[in-house]
Amino acid sequence: MIKKYSVKKLLNQGKFLLNKKVLVEGWIRSFRYSIFISLNDGSTIQNLQIVLSTNKLDKIIMKKITIGSSIRVIGIVKKSIGKKQYIELQSLDITIYKLVNPEILQKSILQPKRHSFEKLREQAHLRFQTNIFNCIMRIRHHIAFCIHKYFHEHGFFYLHTPIITTSNCEGTGKMFQITTMDLKKNERIDYTKDFFKCKTYLSVSGQLEAETASLGLGKVYTFGPVFRAENSNTSRHLSEFWMIEPEIAFYHLEENINLAEKFLKFIIRYIVENSMEDLIFLNQCLEKWKKKKKNYLLDKLELILKFPFKKISYTETIKILDQEEKKKNIKFSHPIIWGMDLKSEHEQYLVDKYFKKIPVIIFDYPCSIKAFYMRMNNDGKTVRAMDVLFPEIGEIIGGSQREERYDMLLQRMKDTNIDFNKLWWYLDTRRFGSVPHSGFGLGFDRLVQFITGMNNIRDVIPFPRTPNNAEF
Ligand code: 4AD
Ligand code: MG
Repeated sequence: MIKKYSVKKLLNQGKFLLNKKVLVEGWIRSFRYSIFISLNDGSTIQNLQIVLSTNKLDKIIMKKITIGSSIRVIGIVKKSIGKKQYIELQSLDITIYKLVNPEILQKSILQPKRHSFEKLREQAHLRFQTNIFNCIMRIRHHIAFCIHKYFHEHGFFYLHTPIITTSNCEGTGKMFQITTMDLKKNERIDYTKDFFKCKTYLSVSGQLEAETASLGLGKVYTFGPVFRAENSNTSRHLSEFWMIEPEIAFYHLEENINLAEKFLKFIIRYIVENSMEDLIFLNQCLEKWKKKKKNYLLDKLELILKFPFKKISYTETIKILDQEEKKKNIKFSHPIIWGMDLKSEHEQYLVDKYFKKIPVIIFDYPCSIKAFYMRMNNDGKTVRAMDVLFPEIGEIIGGSQREERYDMLLQRMKDTNIDFNKLWWYLDTRRFGSVPHSGFGLGFDRLVQFITGMNNIRDVIPFPRTPNNAEF
């Protein structure tokens, strides 16, 4: 049996395989001088060079070879004379799985030339055969992997929270309703006849369930898809995105803030240490296409690791923005007033200009702009909320210390029009060994977007779901 290798493994172990017969499979990325095939199988950004032999079979095949075609090659590993690669494969036998018609290829994003990201999205099913998207997907995988690694090594348990829910955790924003009933316009609907005997939705967050679990397991985290039916057509919003939500019992806001910083730095360090080849390739693309500075991506990631994150209260933030506006002749389109929700123009100014691209953690927001479950401060006006703001992206994490006092929580639910009868089970946890606890939600796709330097969040998720768009 001839041993099968991925391109990555073959390139890594090539030195020890010289003159051995091996099998590889992949897609043709280029074909030069009727001799050299560049083969890629997705395992790495690197291609394997296949050198065609002069035998009759290869010659017949040669005439047909086109970019994008899928092949199987049996060959002998040789030391390459070329400077670009250490080894190459001297072909003995080539099998073609599927030849691509060059005319069809011309019309697709696989035609080897620069295509816009918008164009790539129109052929989302073929994006996986492009270098750039493959890089992003490999990095996405490594980020997901190291998130599980971090929590596992720090004593957290991975909790699977339901996707189908009856409650809106965040209290604001629209949810997607799910039903098996045939909804006719203008008809009164009796939801006790629906599948779950009540109105159900796709969940916007697993937090409430994660809280109940943390109040028994101690430290838990969720990592799953969440759904928001807001009509936000921005480069940072998806209707379906992935969120990571750690929730920790016996935990105060300060500890939560420190966890968020350590966790984010761990992920970025892991990617710098484990995905360098892909980062370098992305960096080259960004320099060429987006006129980004040399080493833009790596410098940006290093900067996150280098300094402690800035930590300031909401009230201080408002003071800074107000002073900056007066001092520097900047005009925000939304006036700076204590109590307002920070808009992206404010967040961007604060992180990118004022703090020179160092992440900022803002805490103690006015209760009027935050969700019902956040713990009330003694001032009766602010809650123990925290948002982590990143350069370019803005809010990447939202979290808080939770209101663990039964009466206070009930009052907040009443004040914010939350149906506390429906959330009886959530309230109930405050009657059975309630403790101070905290957690946060990290927007996974926003983090991938930051690390890969993409302008649009739709380019870092395999099949984006956004308003008017669910084709693939
Ligand atoms: O700030 P959010 O809404 O917080 C929660 O859902 C809490 N339940 C989290 C918790 O405390 N356990 O969302 C958390 C993060 C945001 O900071 C942002 O990064 C991301 O989720 N996010 C989105 N990402 C992509 N598309 C959207 N439409 C997003 N909405 C929020
Ligand atoms: Mg938020």
